[in-house]
Amino acid sequence: MIDIQGRTAFITGGANGIGLGIARRLAHAGAKLALVDIDEVALAKAKVELQDITQVETFILDVRDRDAFLSTADAVECTLGPVTLLFNNAGVAGGDSVMKINYELWDWYLGINLYGVINGLQTFLPRMVKNGEGGHIVNTSSGAGLVATGAGVLYTTSKFAVVGLSEELRLSSELKAAGIGVSVLCPARVATDIINRSLEATPKSGVKLPDEVEKKIAENVALAGQMLHQYGVSIDVVGDMVLNAIQENALYIITDCEAEELIKTRSKALLDALPN
Ligand SMILES: NC(=O)c1ccc[n+]([C@@H]2O[C@H](COP(=O)([O-])OP(=O)(O)OC[C@H]3O[C@@H](n4cnc5c(N)ncnc54)[C@H](O)[C@@H]3O)[C@@H](O)[C@H]2O)c1
Repeated sequence: MIDIQGRTAFITGGANGIGLGIARRLAHAGAKLALVDIDEVALAKAKVELQDITQVETFILDVRDRDAFLSTADAVECTLGPVTLLFNNAGVAGGDSVMKINYELWDWYLGINLYGVINGLQTFLPRMVKNGEGGHIVNTSSGAGLVATGAGVLYTTSKFAVVGLSEELRLSSELKAAGIGVSVLCPARVATDIINRSLEATPKSGVKLPDEVEKKIAENVALAGQMLHQYGVSIDVVGDMVLNAIQENALYIITDCEAEELIKTRSKALLDALPN
């Protein structure tokens, strides 16, 4: 079992929500923290909350920016030592109608939700293998990365890719030899403000639909945000699950049973489609 004490964890989207829940849990387990995010105010708040428990450094980083990723990685390792726990977690949600989607929206969603993960891996994986201290990588996907749930084409595309990437990464003999485990976090509903935060940040260039349709979309989005707080598990429960999964080197971290029936239906359809 991997010993968390004294290791350095790099958490993208670490200022709010699930990233903060993971940070809290790791802090109590004795890890040093590098929290990175684009939300400067929330980063400062997280630092104040956690700095009495462990050493915490915060960095403003847009996960789409590869050069900044590299310089942030250097700064983190200079201050906190080699990163051996990597959390590619930053992400945005949203279920835009297929009729609204344009290239800017594809680039924005995939840039954060998929390339953010890829950029984290490209930056840290070679360092983690080289420094020989083992470690663990957790990529945040979603229940929508396991089965189509109606979460939107952009979101679902990005999250399926993160599951595939993580499953393949875990097969890597180089990672196994280096003692680096891989998990993929697939929550359905966690009580965070991701819907509002994403809505505010989403490029507004999407195709304008008739007013009635736009109104319906806005109502659905508001409802989705409310449902996260009404039915979602807490970020601290997710933090506990993530820590356990790291210690057990579990591949999937599924935080609730929301997608159970859809997963069963999909799995059956796949099996039924196999030639006899
Ligand atoms: N909350 C849920 O129900 C839920 C369900 C499934 C998957 N997820 C996934 O969990 C991850 C975390 O989501 P959350 O619910 O904690 O959301 P959140 O909005 O509470 O936290 C996400 C954090 O990522 C940051 N962020 C956004 N864009 C960024 C960028 N370009 N660069 C750096 N940081 C950026 C935000 O500022 C925020 O602090 C996401 O990948 C999300 O898709 C969440």
